[in-house]
Amino acid sequence: MIQAENFIFYQIYPKSFCDSNGDGIGDLAGIQSKIGYLKDLGINAIWLTPCYESPNVDNGYDVANYRKISEEVGGNAAFEKLLHALHENGIKLIVDLVANHTSDQHAWFLEAKKSKDNPYRNYYIWRETPPNDWQSLFGGSAWEYDERTKEYYLHSYAVEQPDLNWENPAVRQEIQNIVDYWIKKGVDGFRCDVLDQISKDLHDPNGNGNGPMLHPYIRELFGRNATENIFTVGECWAATADNVKLFCDKDRKELTTVFTFQHLCLSKNKFTTKKPSLKDLCKKMASWQQVTQEAGVYNTSFLENHDQPRSVSRFGNDTSYRYESATLLGGLTLLQRGIPFLFQGQEIGITNSRHDALEAFNDVETLNYFKTNDNLPEAERFANINAVGRDNARRPIPWTAKTEKSWIAPYARSEEINVEKDLRAEKPVFAFYRDLITLRKTNKAISHGTFTLLNLTDEYYAFQREYGEEKITVLCAFERGARIENAYGGAAILNNYSDYAPQELKPYQLIVLK
Ligand code: GLC
Ligand code: CA
Repeated sequence: MIQAENFIFYQIYPKSFCDSNGDGIGDLAGIQSKIGYLKDLGINAIWLTPCYESPNVDNGYDVANYRKISEEVGGNAAFEKLLHALHENGIKLIVDLVANHTSDQHAWFLEAKKSKDNPYRNYYIWRETPPNDWQSLFGGSAWEYDERTKEYYLHSYAVEQPDLNWENPAVRQEIQNIVDYWIKKGVDGFRCDVLDQISKDLHDPNGNGNGPMLHPYIRELFGRNATENIFTVGECWAATADNVKLFCDKDRKELTTVFTFQHLCLSKNKFTTKKPSLKDLCKKMASWQQVTQEAGVYNTSFLENHDQPRSVSRFGNDTSYRYESATLLGGLTLLQRGIPFLFQGQEIGITNSRHDALEAFNDVETLNYFKTNDNLPEAERFANINAVGRDNARRPIPWTAKTEKSWIAPYARSEEINVEKDLRAEKPVFAFYRDLITLRKTNKAISHGTFTLLNLTDEYYAFQREYGEEKITVLCAFERGARIENAYGGAAILNNYSDYAPQELKPYQLIVLK
């Protein structure tokens, strides 16, 4: 059985992590060269975003061959080497399983397109007329007309990402075979892309998510003997307080855990410069702590991934309080209940990056937004994509002040914020993250304990974690600092300021009391 509570994940976006041969594209050998850095940080598991053969319309989430690692990152040989090296260093590796859709360049789709009676036709979802008016999550209709056979196919994402038809048992068998292929290679598990979309009710006008066969399909795939010791995390935008238990209740044999998104969906429209408040964030997180605890399940704890802007820019202050807010957000990620997932660069407090030319952007969602909203002034669209666009997470990690060459415009603040500089700083963000990880590894109250909300005011968030005799109290001050009338007891074992006045917290101050 998997001890989910012990994992501390670090997500790597390979093309932007570390480039070992200077061609401008991060690669697997680059990751291998940074194992020492990752061990130093203290993480014990990695989620590798997809780097299979792909035309890269959606940066690898359009897979053309599920069994081939792309040559630009080093191919299958480099993957096996990396996996071996990670295991030798006690680090687990989970890979991305993108099974809701393929690339339109996948052999199955190239076949399926040929004729209505092609044996692969039914691998995808074709209709003479669209049965609903679902919208693609990247904008426009989710149905694309194909001239050759005069039918529409479903694509929940880009036109070049046709959705697979999971009702076809042959498709489910193919996916199972892919899972087994990577298990045989030695991977430790899977992060399952938009998993809650695999079963569809085409008559549901509200769209795509939580379809009627979702749970039976998950169980069929992961409830097998072959997958018993495999870590699985589903990306489940449709997970709610009412159904989260269905995904990751141990007895149901579906998933180890889920990514839920309520805490990151704090505004109606995605593309806005309006910042959510730290208080709203903490409120959502606290309520999900309670929901999952009551449901007896373990979810994940994260603020960043390759689809999200940088947390310090979104929830903190990325200029005058960058250190304090980055470390506070690290505390929120690593001290609450749930399996923590850090995203590359978060550990040195990387911020969003400002760019004012469209060539600096690569993400299909961002570019679609920019093109289809030409009713808005250009300056406003740039402000929006700089604030929340996915490329913020996808710019190469600035190991030094200058990134020589890269497939996407490099991080704009790398002179000021880079790994080399952070590690040499008087107060490295990295060191604080390392301390948080050590704390989590050495205190069962944090890794395994219960969660109790102590207080959530306009000024601060306080919670307690408890395991047996062990009790940890965490205080998180918001942007203006906090006055606390009845000070909390215990000795401060971690503090992102050099001093601590129990009744007067400074802006973004994080205090751990034991
Ligand atoms: C998930 C991925 C995202 C991708 C989408 C379609 O949300 O995290 O990057 O664009 O699925 O595969
Ligand atoms: Ca390279």
